[in-house]
Amino acid sequence: MTTVAPPLDVFRYAHDHFHEIVWMSQNTNHLFPSGPVEEAIAKAVKEKRYQSYPYAPGDPTLKELVRKDFGLTDCEVGIASGGTEALYMLTRGLLSAQDEVIASDPSYLIIHKFIELSGARTVNLPIYAPPYRLTPDRVNEAVTPKTRMILLIDPLNPLGSGYPKEDVRAIAEIAKDHKLLLLNDTTYRDFADAHTLAHPFYPEGTVTVWSVSKNCGLAGVRLGGLLARKELYDRIWKYNTNDLGVNVLSQAAAVAALQAKPKAFPAVARQTRENQKRIHDAAKGWKGVSLPVYPSQGNMFVLDVAERGVDPEALQRELLLNHGVFLRAGNYLSPTSGKRFIRASFSNVPADIDRFLKAFPLALETLSRPPPKVAAAVAGR
Ligand SMILES: Cc1ncc(COP(=O)(O)O)c(C=O)c1O
Repeated sequence: MTTVAPPLDVFRYAHDHFHEIVWMSQNTNHLFPSGPVEEAIAKAVKEKRYQSYPYAPGDPTLKELVRKDFGLTDCEVGIASGGTEALYMLTRGLLSAQDEVIASDPSYLIIHKFIELSGARTVNLPIYAPPYRLTPDRVNEAVTPKTRMILLIDPLNPLGSGYPKEDVRAIAEIAKDHKLLLLNDTTYRDFADAHTLAHPFYPEGTVTVWSVSKNCGLAGVRLGGLLARKELYDRIWKYNTNDLGVNVLSQAAAVAALQAKPKAFPAVARQTRENQKRIHDAAKGWKGVSLPVYPSQGNMFVLDVAERGVDPEALQRELLLNHGVFLRAGNYLSPTSGKRFIRASFSNVPADIDRFLKAFPLALETLSRPPPKVAAAVAGR
């Protein structure tokens, strides 16, 4: 039975109860060792680096670390206040009114919003059915004379689908053959078993978006950016509004985290996988709940609750208010299938997963009960 939830600012509530909440709502990473980052920020604070502007183009050490991490030596590295800012800039710089961008539904819809702000529109291919990702054939069929860009988010938020190498190559070749731009958002790539960058298949037309929010557990410092060859980079970067540079403390944190990542990340990936397996195994016992994509190649996946007849927004609210567990209802990730699912991220400590595993079936049970009036009527019969 579906319960309709009154409006509630769930983020305000979660931040007001920050320390009591299990954060599984925004694909954040609570496993990356914090030592090097804390030291780097403390050092930068002690040196009062915040009193001066940063070196405006971005810390060269940070740029070099990013370039090395991706192995894209022919690219310029753009440093921004998160991948988000880079996504805004690149849509602004590369798209015009009437352009079309081939994308998916579900998707990370903030990018679609930026595309629309540039005057272009997205052509959303529905992918909430196997294989739960774009395929080269469908992308190819969707190309029209107005198509200007293909959006390839790999691994895909929210489903956790990853693209096989042959599909990345084929999609890059479609972009190249039709002289389109390819936006390869790689925010979650470190969580994948294997990941293929699109850039080497189409270097002149690919923009690669990177972030330290998820892999390095630095969502709060707001740091990310893009990689592109100089010609593309220059077209994008003239729209950079952050002309005096990105937060110095954030850049110091990112340098420390990227230096630590090669050694630190394998344990993060292992724990993330173990967590998702625990959820997967438990979900087998939850009636009317299914996992469309398993294993996820990201640090999130969706739990489909449509068969259970539960409203994801009501479930989000019940989990948050009555169990202190914060997941994200699907409506903000898909206009068509978002009413079917709730998204869980799981780069969390095992105790968080324990709380989730206890809370989720209880919340389902609460929401599956008939409302009191009906229950009374049934009892009186
Ligand atoms: C696919 C995708 N791209 C970009 C971002 C933004 O990342 P950042 O925190 O670097 O702005 C997110 C954040 O959730 C995301 O899911």
